[in-house]
Amino acid sequence: MKDKINELREKQELAKLGGGEKRIESQHAKGKLTARERIALLMDEGSFEEIGMFVTHRSQEFGLERQKFLGDGVITGYGTINGRTVYVFAQDFTVFGGSLAEMHAKKIVRIMDLAMENGAPVIGLNDSGGARIQEGVVSLGGYADIFYRNTLASGVIPQISAIMGPCAGGAVYSPALTDFVMMVENSSYMFVTGPNVVKTVTHEEVTSEELGGASAHSTKSGVTHFSCANDLACIENIKNLLSYMPQNCEEESPQIEYHAGDESRANLNDIVPENPNQPYDIKDVIEGVVDKDSFLEVHKDFAENMVVGFALLAGKSIGIVANQPAVLAGVLDIDASTKGGRFVRFCDCFNIPLLVFEDVPGFLPGTDQEWNGIISNGAKLLYAFSEATVPRITVITRKAYGGAYDVMNSKHIGADMNYAWPTAEIAVMGAKGAAEIIFRNEIKAADDPEAKLKEKEQDYLEHFANPYRAAERGYVDEVILPSETREKLIKAFSMLKNKAKTLPRKKHGNIPL
Ligand code: HXC
Repeated sequence: MKDKINELREKQELAKLGGGEKRIESQHAKGKLTARERIALLMDEGSFEEIGMFVTHRSQEFGLERQKFLGDGVITGYGTINGRTVYVFAQDFTVFGGSLAEMHAKKIVRIMDLAMENGAPVIGLNDSGGARIQEGVVSLGGYADIFYRNTLASGVIPQISAIMGPCAGGAVYSPALTDFVMMVENSSYMFVTGPNVVKTVTHEEVTSEELGGASAHSTKSGVTHFSCANDLACIENIKNLLSYMPQNCEEESPQIEYHAGDESRANLNDIVPENPNQPYDIKDVIEGVVDKDSFLEVHKDFAENMVVGFALLAGKSIGIVANQPAVLAGVLDIDASTKGGRFVRFCDCFNIPLLVFEDVPGFLPGTDQEWNGIISNGAKLLYAFSEATVPRITVITRKAYGGAYDVMNSKHIGADMNYAWPTAEIAVMGAKGAAEIIFRNEIKAADDPEAKLKEKEQDYLEHFANPYRAAERGYVDEVILPSETREKLIKAFSMLKNKAKTLPRKKHGNIPL
């Protein structure tokens, strides 16, 4: 028996060494942790249970039959994070560069199936040279098996991908199908074709970091939702993000203990400037309304004219979508629309109520926007809100102009409650533009056209630049003081907590992708 026990222990120790000491050193020299170190930091201490530690490949080609590593380059299993079950896979770059092949893929697939059947989030720590070149098409099949499950799991369980090393070629499509992607700065990259192919095809000279590093994907493409300084920060971010989510689509996010107190927030009365054309930071409004230090911004550096993220309100997780008047006056453009739309979809999948802060002068004009499809991309945000059945509340802080008024979670498209601050202006367009159009002839014929325009502009302002016309029709439920916003929202979300709304029976809708 002793021998047998020793044999098992030796095998376990060998598996834990992955590709060996030298390769582990080389991983550390790149500023990266190993797959096992990452898992140890991610999971509650002692909670990780490994599955498939002794799995090896069965390839007989290109000398692989002489190179076998226990685990086949990926560590898979389950455990807890803050006491909640999660399934995890972490690619081990020290074994064949974390490359994916038949058995490696099978291990990931098993974890995903378990996660889906048992209703718990799945977290993928990616660090891989892509398809294992020696195994050929079998590797491609393995990827597709994962993509298929990513798609089936979408909306059933939360899926989080952390890119902590290379992730290139078709391999990028697994993270892309998941709910949230985070990348580590300077040690990870994602691209469909790398710098060499880019140079051959387009003659552009670009480094891996420039082409597909964390900075490129968090600011330019929006592929990644979070850019993290290092492995440790990335792991902490995963834990924090998870805390706002339920385990699956049938459950609600955890309720953090909360003791009601004085919920008025006098400082909110001073945020919106007197001059309606002066910017302010909507994040001051968000932070002033939600529970202290609870706002977790998502997609922080992408399409900054739209702010999205999670927060707690009276200890309960909510999703926030807000125009940002401090950037491009909070205008809706293509990136802001897709960013907002995607976030709304996530919240709706996982029963997270939505809170919208609205200050939007309209859609961004121009050939760039029109030719790149502001029509179909703006429709994504409209569709996402319209279809969302979670509790939905809007607070109009200032401008709600034109089609953007409709799109930003208006009651007409299914919002449950719509509040406006006294500074709200709900109109078809800004006063100057409106006066120029409807009083064109009168202004032209005037002795002093400029003075006439000012007079008409003022006229229009007095008529529409307020929340009361909308309140008269019930489009706005109540005009409230900024200082009482938090209290009103806590009460309204509590009133809506048992909301049960179903959509017309259908196979699935056809969101304008
Ligand atoms: C097999 C691989 C591998 C791969 C790396 N290795 N990538 N083995 N298949 N795809 C091995 C190396 O041989 C090496 O083995 C070890 O991993 C570490 O690799 P290094 O090159 O030493 O590391 P580094 O210098 O950090 O470079 C990392 C890298 C590079 C940039 C990822 O390894 C690389 O370019 N690899 C090939 C990438 C690639 O073309 N993949 C296929 C893409 S197509 P030893 O024994 O020396 O430690 C694809 C299609 C997916 O993925 C389609 C899905 C639909």
